[in-house]
Amino acid sequence: MQSFDVVVVGAGAAGMMCAIEAGKRGRSVLVVDHAKAAGEKIRISGGGRCNFTNINANPTNFISTNPRFAKGPLRRYPAKAFVALVDSYGIAWHEKTLGQLFCDETAKDIIAMLLAEMKAAKVQLRLATAVAGVTKTATGFDLALPGGAVSCASLVVATGGKSIPKMGATGWGYEIAAQFGLPLVETRPALVPLTFEVGALEKLKPLAGVAVDAVVACGKTRFTEAMLFTHRGLSGPAILQISSYWREGQEITLSMAPSVDLMAAMKLAKTTRGRQAVATVLADHIPKRLAQMVAEDEGALGNIADLPDKVLTRVDAAVNRWTVKPVGSEGYRTAEVTLGGVDTESLDPGTMQARDVSGLYFIGEVVDVTGWLGGYNFQWAWSSGWCAGQAV
Ligand code: FDA
Repeated sequence: MQSFDVVVVGAGAAGMMCAIEAGKRGRSVLVVDHAKAAGEKIRISGGGRCNFTNINANPTNFISTNPRFAKGPLRRYPAKAFVALVDSYGIAWHEKTLGQLFCDETAKDIIAMLLAEMKAAKVQLRLATAVAGVTKTATGFDLALPGGAVSCASLVVATGGKSIPKMGATGWGYEIAAQFGLPLVETRPALVPLTFEVGALEKLKPLAGVAVDAVVACGKTRFTEAMLFTHRGLSGPAILQISSYWREGQEITLSMAPSVDLMAAMKLAKTTRGRQAVATVLADHIPKRLAQMVAEDEGALGNIADLPDKVLTRVDAAVNRWTVKPVGSEGYRTAEVTLGGVDTESLDPGTMQARDVSGLYFIGEVVDVTGWLGGYNFQWAWSSGWCAGQAV
C-alpha cells in the first residue's frame, strides 16, 4: 500500500493551500479530487477574475456559530500574506470596491500559481479520483482509491460545501465528519438570489435588468451594495449578502435611494417644478423604469403640485422603506457558498484538527465558517488551509 504523510481530499482553494504548506515542510503529500481539474470554483469565481481576497477581512465578516473561531487563522495567514504570494508570481490585480481584490486578467492565473507551488513542494495530485471509503488505523487512515488503497498519518478534508452540485460539490466532508462523530451545524444555501411568490414576480418582471445602489436590511443586519431586478426576482450583491441572514418567513426592507431625503426632494419639487410628474422627479434619484412603476403603483399620477403629501409619503415609503417577503432562495443550484458545516467546537483553531480524532483535519467551506460576499470566503480557505498545512 502506498503511504503518505498527508492526504488532502479536495483540490480546491483550501486543499491546495494546505498541500503547498505541508509539502514545503517536507511532508509527502497526495491531493485527490473527483473532478477532472483542480480549482474549478476558483476558475469561475468573481466573474472569471477571482475576487481572491478582501484586504479588510476580519472575524466580523464571517457567519458561524462561533465567529471568533476564524480570528486565529485570519491573523496567522492574513490577506496581505496571500497578496504577497500573488505578487511574487507577477499576477496583476486591482481593488474593485470595499477592499475586494480581483485579478486584472483571469482567475486561471491563481490556479496556475497554486499548481506551480504544489509542484515546487513536490505534492502529488490525482484528479478524477473518488474516495470510496476511509478507515481509521493505529497510525492514521486508510483510503480506498480506484488505483488501490493508500495510507496516511494525516487526513485533510477540504471538499467544500454543497453549492453548485453541477460542478462536483458533494456532502462528502459532512459524511466523514459524521463517520468520526463530529457534530455538524445544519447547512443551508447562502449568497444566493432570493425568490418571490408568482404575483410579486409578475409585478417586478418589467424591471428586469434595473440596478440600484440600495441598503438592504433583515432584522438588525444591513448591507449597502448594488441590487439588481431580474426575471426571477431580486439579485445583486446586496441581496446575496442579506440572503445569508434571511430565514423563511422573514421580511427584508429595501431602501433604493438611501442617501436621499425623498420626501424633502418631492416637497421642494412641488414648489419649484410643480408641473412635472412624480416619476420625473423620482428619476433624479432612481432609475426611470423603477420611478415610473413606483408612481403608478402608488397612484401618484399627474402634476406633482396637485398631489397631497400623504400620496408622496406613500411614494417615499415605496422607494426607501420597501418591505418584501421572499418565499425562498434559488438553493444550492446557484448559491455561492454553504452556511453551516463541521461545528467549530470540535476543531482546534490553531491547527484545524479534530479535537477528538487525532490526524483528522477540516478546512475551508466544509467548516461552519462562512464569509460575506467580497473575497472573504477565499481568504478563509487560504487561512484555514495554511494553518492545517503547518500542523499536518
Ligand atoms: P472548493 O469547493 O473550492 O473545493 C472543494 C473540492 O473538493 C472541489 O475541487 C471538489 O471537486 C472536491 N470534492 C468535493 N467532493 C469530493 C469528493 N467526494 N471526493 C473528492 N473530491 C471532492 N469566494 C470568494 O472569496 N471570492 C469570489 O470571487 C467567489 N466567487 C464565487 C463564485 C461562484 C459561482 C461560487 C460558486 C463561489 C464563489 N466563491 C467566491 C466561494 C468560493 O468559491 C468558495 O468559498 C471556495 O472555493 C471554498 O474553497 P474550498 O477549498 O473549501 O472548497
